[in-house]
Formats: sequence, structure tokens, C-alpha cells
Amino acid sequence: MSSSPRIAVLASGRGSNLAALLAARERGELPVDFVLVASDRANAGALRLAEAANIPTLALDPRSYPDRRGFDMDLFARLAASGAEWLVLAGFMRILDGTALAPWVGRMINIHPSLLPKYRGLHTHRRALEANDPEHGASVHFVTAELDGGPVIAQARLPIEAGDDEQQLAQRLLPLEHRLLPAALSLLVSNQLQWRNGAPHFNGQPLPRPLTLGADGVLSLK
Ligand code: GRF
Repeated sequence: MSSSPRIAVLASGRGSNLAALLAARERGELPVDFVLVASDRANAGALRLAEAANIPTLALDPRSYPDRRGFDMDLFARLAASGAEWLVLAGFMRILDGTALAPWVGRMINIHPSLLPKYRGLHTHRRALEANDPEHGASVHFVTAELDGGPVIAQARLPIEAGDDEQQLAQRLLPLEHRLLPAALSLLVSNQLQWRNGAPHFNGQPLPRPLTLGADGVLSLK
């Protein structure tokens, strides 16, 4: 087994964030091994991307399980069996059972398309527009039992422009997500970011606020 940090990615959809992680690894910016890409949808584009990159895949159908916990327990057992040390949720569109995810707290991150704590859940672009927010963004956070509620590690911010609609905003945000997620994962696997005593720490100190993605693609405390 290689000595690079072992990552499993969970994705339900097209997988553009997974593609960004794979590209970052190709460029030598993310020295990790992707050991598994798992999905709750057999037709997820993310699975096809993984196959093309020779990464093992797993598709589990939630309808084959009696309840959410049953599905999640099996999913997390298989993720553990893959040898993964870290889990990345990249567009995984399911609420996770708190008991099933508990062993992974501090080792699992999610990317969410809003400036958390604003707009947990769905339709984040629409909600930011409806609220007349001056800016929007994306967040990477540690996953806890609270939906989109775990401590935020890093954010990318984007001004909302007059005339923006939901689709335009989503389109402008996506390239930022694609830089944010690999940058955050890279800090995590290099131990610059750590989960200690139930809170994120950056370079050994409690993280006072989320890191911000700069125009240079670097995450820093602003
Ligand atoms: C992204 O907007 C991500 O923030 C959200 O789901 C979307 C996934 O897109 N959690 P993709 O499948 O990575 O293209």
C-alpha cells in the first residue's frame, strides 16, 4: 500500500468537483491516492470519471436498504474497508445518519455552495439572490451530524452582480469550488489543518474563522 494519504470521494452527480481533485493530483498539487469513489446513484457522472481514471467505484442503491441508517452503516463499512483515511463529500446529496458517520468526524469534509452558516440545504444560489446578498460563495466544512452545520474550514467568496440569475451565479461559483476543495483537502492531508478536541486547528492554533481562498488560489487567514 502506498504511503500517500488515502482518500475516498462520495458523489451523487456529474462529478466536476471530483474532476477538480483528480486534476489537482495530476498537477502534483495534491499528493494523495484516491482509493474509492462511491455513489448512491449508479448513473452518476462521477462514477464514470472515476472509472476513466482507474479508481475503484461503488454504487449502492438506497432502495435496497430498510432505512437510512442501514444504508449508511453499509456505506461507511465499505469506505473503511477501502482503506480510506479521509472522506470527501463532493456533491453527495444525502443526509447522513449521525451514528453511522460518528467514527469519521474530523476525517470527513463536504463542499457546500454557500457562505455557511448561511443557506444550509438546497437552492443556495436562489436564496442568496432572494436575500439581495452582496456576495455569495462556497464553503468546505467538517461533516458532523448536523446537516451542513459542521465547523467551516475554508471559503471562497464571489460578488453578486446586478442581473445575476440562479444559473449564472452557480456557473460563476463552480470554478471557485474547483479551487477551494483541492486547496482545503491539501491542507488537511498535510496536517496543517487538524481536527483536535472537536474543533479545527490551523498550524497548531484553533482556527478563529474560515480560511479564505485568494486570487492566487492560496488559502489564508484574512
Ligand atoms: C456542487 O455545487 C457542490 O458544492 C454541491 O453539489 C455540487 C456538486 O457538483 N455540494 P459536481 O457533481 O461536483 O459537479
